[in-house]
Order: sequence, then structure tokens, then C-alpha cells
Amino acid sequence: MLILGIESSCDETAASVARDGCEVLSNVVASQADIHRQFGGVVPEVASRYHVEVITAVIDEAMREAGVAFSDLDGIAVTQGPGLVGSLIVGLQAAQAISFVHNIPLIPVHHIAGHIYANALEAPMTFPLIALVVSGGHTELILMKADNEFEYLGRTLDDAVGEAYDKVARILEIGYPGGPLIDKLATTGCDTYSLPRIWLDKNGFDFSFSGLKSAVINLTHNAKQRGELIDPANLAASFQASVVEVLVGKTMRALEKYGVENLVVAGGVAANSGLRGALEAAAKEKGIHLMIPAFKYCTDNAAMIAAAGAVNLRQQKTSDLALDAKPNLKLV
Ligand code: KG4
Ligand code: ZN
Repeated sequence: MLILGIESSCDETAASVARDGCEVLSNVVASQADIHRQFGGVVPEVASRYHVEVITAVIDEAMREAGVAFSDLDGIAVTQGPGLVGSLIVGLQAAQAISFVHNIPLIPVHHIAGHIYANALEAPMTFPLIALVVSGGHTELILMKADNEFEYLGRTLDDAVGEAYDKVARILEIGYPGGPLIDKLATTGCDTYSLPRIWLDKNGFDFSFSGLKSAVINLTHNAKQRGELIDPANLAASFQASVVEVLVGKTMRALEKYGVENLVVAGGVAANSGLRGALEAAAKEKGIHLMIPAFKYCTDNAAMIAAAGAVNLRQQKTSDLALDAKPNLKLV
């Protein structure tokens, strides 16, 4: 089963060909990070215009690298949402055009299902499992008893964890995109600043990161007013320690409460070295089978969309050509 995946929900234009949802034949990603850097964040109009410019070349390259023709494909999987509407439309229209011309089934994919199924690119996923989803727009614990069955256990009540990383990077003025830069800086510092651990209800599985972000802002402002210097590496390490402790703590408790032994991690923040290390240690201690995608499959890519698309195609979840972009598409 050969599937072309297309992803354009935010600021990455990506196309990939994968066989059976696990063997990646090509994985092309055109990042717009350099363009949005000057604005300190993604500008939606700029993002959609850039998607239009590069999408055809990105798809052509993915097909060429995979060494397949459109007529070889069994399906075209495309991110339907959530995401920026102007960005989503570009990928959708490209997919619709290829689907129409070559008469290939069109497979809508939820972006977060894509992040979760990035794990299937490494090895088969075993159910039941709990997915810790940590990206720029999402922070969620999801229970899956079978393919495409998603049950929310908890989610962020305010900022997503990736968003908090990006905001703290802006406060520390260390550049864009902030997550990977804070991660790198944190490895050179120590957890010396006393920052809160926002547990909310200790027995619940919801998250909150805005209080932690405010604590970093207040600490920085107060130091400035007193004419004191902040140690950016130590502050980055302290911020990361707080985030990781809460994410790992709640995830382990969820596994215990629901009697689940399989954990998958998904989304851009799954690339975080502190989080990966802490999850690996906790999983080893508790005998949990842990899966984290390779770095290139953590941040936005289209191989994950092809992987989720394979699951949808097997379940005959295809669409006619009148497929709309859904900026607020829900997983369940
Ligand atoms: O999944 P993703 O590529 O896009 C969304 O669907 O949101 O995630 C992007 C987010 C950004 O906030 C970025 O700063 C964060 O993931 N991120 C990281 C790391 N790499 C990417 N955050 C912390 N540590 C990293 N190494
Ligand atoms: Zn994403």
C-alpha cells in the first residue's frame, strides 16, 4: 500500500511517500523558519503564500526520491486540520488535484493523529497505549485502546507546552524557533531558579503552563529592575526542569491509573532532550514500553501523515473531493 502524505498546516510544507504506513521512501520538508524568524513567530498570510510557492516542487521531489509515479499510489493522505486555514487549504487543494486527475482515493488526516502515528514509522504500535502529545498547539494525554480510538484523559487549560517554550525563548531573547534553542541552552545550565511546578489537581491529568511562563517573566523583570544579571542557561534549565517534571509525573500517573503499559510520545516537543531522557528513565523504572519518534518525525513532516493515512485507508476512511480545511478539527 503506497501512500503520498501531504502536510501544510503551519509553517512546514511537507510531502512523503510511505509503504504500508511504516516504510518511508521519501520525506521532504521545506521549513519556513528562516522567513518567520524576523517576525518572531508564524505570520499566517506569509505562511500560506510560501506554501503556494513550494508545494508543487516539494511533492515532485518526494515522488522522485521515492521513485514512484502517481499511478502507483493507493491513496493521498492530507492534513485536514487543525491548523492555519490558509496553510491547510494549499495542501488540501494539491491533494484534491492529484486525487482527481489520477483517480486516487483522498484520505483526510487529523494533524495530531499524524503526530501519534509517527511512532508507527519505527515499529508497530501496541494497544492499549497512552499518547503524550506535546506540540506548539497541543498538550494532551490520550488513551487509545485501538487504532483511531482516541479518549482524552487531560489537556492544557491555557498555553501548549511548545508555545510556552517559544514564549520563554522570546523573554530570554535567544532566538526563534525557541523550543530547540532553550533545549540546547538548558543542557549547559543547572536548575538553580526556583520555578513553580503547576500540578493543578494532582490526581487529574490537565496541564497549565501560563503560570510558569509568568513566573519566568516576573523573575526576569524583577532582576532587571534590581540591576541583577540573569543566567540564561540556568533559567532555561530551571524552566525545562519544571516542564519535564510535570509532564513526566502526570504521564506516569496516567499509565498507572489506567493500567496501561505502552506509552507513545508525539509532537515537536518530543524532540526535547530533557523530556526524552526523563521519560526513558521513568519508563525503565516502571517497566513501561516507551516509543518516541526519531527527531525528524517529531516536528511537522508528511511521513507521519502518510502513516496515519494508511490506518484511515485500511478503515476505509476516505473522502470525496469536497474536502474542506478544518482549522479547529477535533480528534474525537
Ligand atoms: O509539532 P510541531 O512541529 O508543530 C505543531 O504541530 O505545533 O511542534 C512545534 C513546537 C514548537 O513550539 C517548537 O518550539 C517545539 O515544538 N519544539 C521543541 C523542541 N523542538 C521543537 N520544544 C522543546 N524542545 C525541543 N527540542
Ligand atoms: Zn505539529
